[in-house]
Amino acid sequence: MSTAPAPAGLVPGTGAAPARRQAIIEVHKLVKRFGDHVVHDGLELEVYRGELLSIVGGSGTGKTVLLRQIVGLERPTSGTIRVFGEDVMTLPPARMQALRNRWGLQFQRGALFSALSVIDNIALPLRELRTLPDNLICQSALLKLQLVGLSARDADKMPADLSGGMVKRVALARALALEPELVFLDEPTAGLDPMGADDYVALIRELREELGLTVVMVTHDLDTLVALSDRVAVLADRKVLAAAPIPELLHIDHPFIREYFLGERARRALTALPPPHAPSGEA
Ligand SMILES: Nc1ncnc2c1ncn2[C@@H]1O[C@H](COP(=O)(O)OP(=O)(O)OP(=O)(O)O)[C@@H](O)[C@H]1O
Ligand SMILES: [Mg+2]
Repeated sequence: MSTAPAPAGLVPGTGAAPARRQAIIEVHKLVKRFGDHVVHDGLELEVYRGELLSIVGGSGTGKTVLLRQIVGLERPTSGTIRVFGEDVMTLPPARMQALRNRWGLQFQRGALFSALSVIDNIALPLRELRTLPDNLICQSALLKLQLVGLSARDADKMPADLSGGMVKRVALARALALEPELVFLDEPTAGLDPMGADDYVALIRELREELGLTVVMVTHDLDTLVALSDRVAVLADRKVLAAAPIPELLHIDHPFIREYFLGERARRALTALPPPHAPSGEA
């Protein structure tokens, strides 16, 4: 099945007013091979402005590789990827850099530079731009720190001195350093305890409302998935099997979807959905 369209003009996860559907990421006929290992084969995906799209799939199905290709860190074998209308595979370096400045990344591994303080980690993307004096960069980085619920007292701490939840927040603050329109989050709640994950979910909700962000998130965490996603793209069989709101996915007959969304853990998480969509008591 190809990518399912979003419901007409709605941004359900935010409860926001109807928005016009505008695809700001368009992945078409994507093929990605490492040697003879085919990771993606004819993958299609669109992400609409203002939505939070989650990507799920078994371990090794290519979720991180997909994000890396979208942001130009990994080259597709074939196919096209357009972000904000620009073809990331053919863009000259200067225009690619300008495009990169429109998104932020919080990646699965290597969250922070261990030798840099919190504030220097957050300031790094701005310093790399070389366009602002350092006092403005520090001010901006401090604002980002507060935006993610930390305070100036945390600014000079080193990554080793932070809790897991704080590391995620600082990584998110760095992803927001350039005030992006679009943010990629790869397993943002991995390693957090349930309360830490809940706090992170609340933070993402607030930031979406305040900043009007479009978010592409990879997560294994069902509670996070259910709490935040407008649509969920399911990676299976080297493709996006479907990209739709969770209630629509529940109707698709596929082993991964059955196992992932209809197992015992999923049934508990799905009770958080509005009543018409929550699973009934039966198997
Ligand atoms: N640079 C690389 N060279 C060779 N194979 C790679 C490379 N990067 C990724 N792969 C392979 O591509 C496949 C997809 O990897 P990817 O990291 O995208 O999986 P994932 O869906 O993010 O998994 P997880 O849920 O465990 O994070 C894996 O089999 C991985 O070993
Ligand atoms: Mg991954």
